[in-house]
Amino acid sequence: MSQDKTQDKLWGGRFSEPTDTFVERFTASVTFDQRLYLADIQGSIAHATMLAKSGILTDQECRQITKGLEAIKADIDAGNFNWSVSLEDVHMNIEAALTEKIGGTGKKLHTGRSRNDQVATDIRLYLRQEIDDVCAAIRAVQKGIVSLAENETNTVMPGFTHLQTAQPISFAHHLMAWFEMFQRDHERMQDCRKRVNVSPLGAAALAGTSFPIDREMTAELLGFDKPAANSLDAVSDRDFAIEFCAASSLLMTHMSRISEELVIWTSAQFDFIDLPDRFCTGSSIMPQKKNPDVPELVRGKSGRVVGHLMSLLTLMKSQPLAYNKDNQEDKEPLFDTLDTVKDSLKAFADMIPAIKANPGNMRSAALKGYSTATDLADYLVRRGTAFRDAHEVVGKAVAYGIEQGKDLSELSLEELRNFSPDIENDVFDILTLEGSLNARNHIGGTAPEQVKKAITKAKSLLS
Ligand code: ARG
Repeated sequence: MSQDKTQDKLWGGRFSEPTDTFVERFTASVTFDQRLYLADIQGSIAHATMLAKSGILTDQECRQITKGLEAIKADIDAGNFNWSVSLEDVHMNIEAALTEKIGGTGKKLHTGRSRNDQVATDIRLYLRQEIDDVCAAIRAVQKGIVSLAENETNTVMPGFTHLQTAQPISFAHHLMAWFEMFQRDHERMQDCRKRVNVSPLGAAALAGTSFPIDREMTAELLGFDKPAANSLDAVSDRDFAIEFCAASSLLMTHMSRISEELVIWTSAQFDFIDLPDRFCTGSSIMPQKKNPDVPELVRGKSGRVVGHLMSLLTLMKSQPLAYNKDNQEDKEPLFDTLDTVKDSLKAFADMIPAIKANPGNMRSAALKGYSTATDLADYLVRRGTAFRDAHEVVGKAVAYGIEQGKDLSELSLEELRNFSPDIENDVFDILTLEGSLNARNHIGGTAPEQVKKAITKAKSLLS
C-alpha cells in the first residue's frame, strides 16, 4: 500500500514513505487551481510543439500529446474529469491523465520544463484573458455612465466639498467625473497587461534547461510579447499579480466611493435619485424600506480586494530567489479579486444607466446652502474689488441671508447694496443656478456646453 502510494506521485522516486494524508491536503492546490486548466493545456501544447520543432520529441509524439491534451480539455469542459488531491495540483492532474490516455509518450511532455515555469506561464495566460474581460467590463460601465449623462447636462445639483453644499454643478458633470475615474482604471489595467504578457516558459525550475529549446517560439505561440529575460526572476516573481491587485484595489476604491454617493443620494434626506427596485431589497421588519444593497455590497467588497493586495505583498516580501512554495498562495487572492471585480463591474454596468434622477430635489438642494456665493465674490472682483475683500463682503451677506432665512438670490438689490455699492441689478443673472453653471465655461468646467463636449469626446473614445 505505502509502496503504491509513493509510486503514485509524479515525483515519488526518491521517497520511501507515502505523504501524510494531512500534508497531502495541506500542500494540494488542485481544489482552487483547477481553473487554470485551459491555460495549462495551451501552455503544454505550445511546449510540445516547440519540443518537436527542436527535435526533442518526434512529430508523431507531439501529435499524440496534443490530441491527448485536447481530449482532456474536452473532458474537463464537459465536467467529466476526476480531480485528485493526491495529484496535488492542476498541472500534475492533467499530466497524469495524459499518460493514462496516451501511455508512455505522455511522460515525455515534461522534458525541459518544470512546474515552476509552467505555473508562472499558466497564471500569466489566465490573467491576461481576465484582464481583457475586466477591461471590457469597465468599458460597459463607462457606456452606462455616458448614456445617463447625455440626458442630464442641464440638470442642476449641488456640488459638495466636505459634503457641504459648495457650488451648483451639472448632474452630468458629476457623472462624467466617474467616467474619468474608470478611464484611468482602464489605463492601469492595460499598463499592467504589458508586464503580465511576458513568457516564463523555458526558465524550467530556475536556471533554464540543458535541452536546445526555443523560447521565442513558445512565447510567440502563446501570444506573449517576449520571453522573460532572466530564468530566476521568471519563476519567482509575482509582481504582475500584485500589480493587478493594486489596479483592482484602486478600481474597487472608485466603485466604493461611487457606491457611497448612491447610498447618500437614495436616502430620504437627499432623495436625489431612484434606483430601480431590482437593485434593492426590503427589510424583514420595516415595510417601508428599500435598501440600496447592491452599492452597499460593492462598497463592502472593496475591503476584500484591498485585503488581497495586502496578502500578496506580504506573501512576496520575504521570499529569496527563486521559486518557493509560498507562491502557491498567490492564487486564491488573485482569483477572488478577479471574481469580485468582475461581479462589481457587472452590477454597475446594469445599475448606472437605470438610475433615475429627481431633478426637482436636486435643484431645491442647490438653491439652499448659498451655492452661488463664489459667483457673487467673482462678480465683485470683476468690478474692481480684490478677491480677499470680496470674500469678506460676501461672507457678511451670507450671514445676513442666514439671519433672514433667505438665499442670496432672494435678497433685494437694496439689501445686497448694503454690503457693496458696486452691486447692480445685473447681479441677479449670476446668482441664478444656471448663471453659475454657464459661467464656468472652460475645459473641465461644469457649464453644460463643456459637459456636452466632454460627453462627445467620451463617446468617440468608447466607439
Ligand atoms: N502548485 C504549485 C504552485 O501553485 C505549482 C508549482 C510547484 N512547484 C514546486 N516546485 N513544488 O505554485
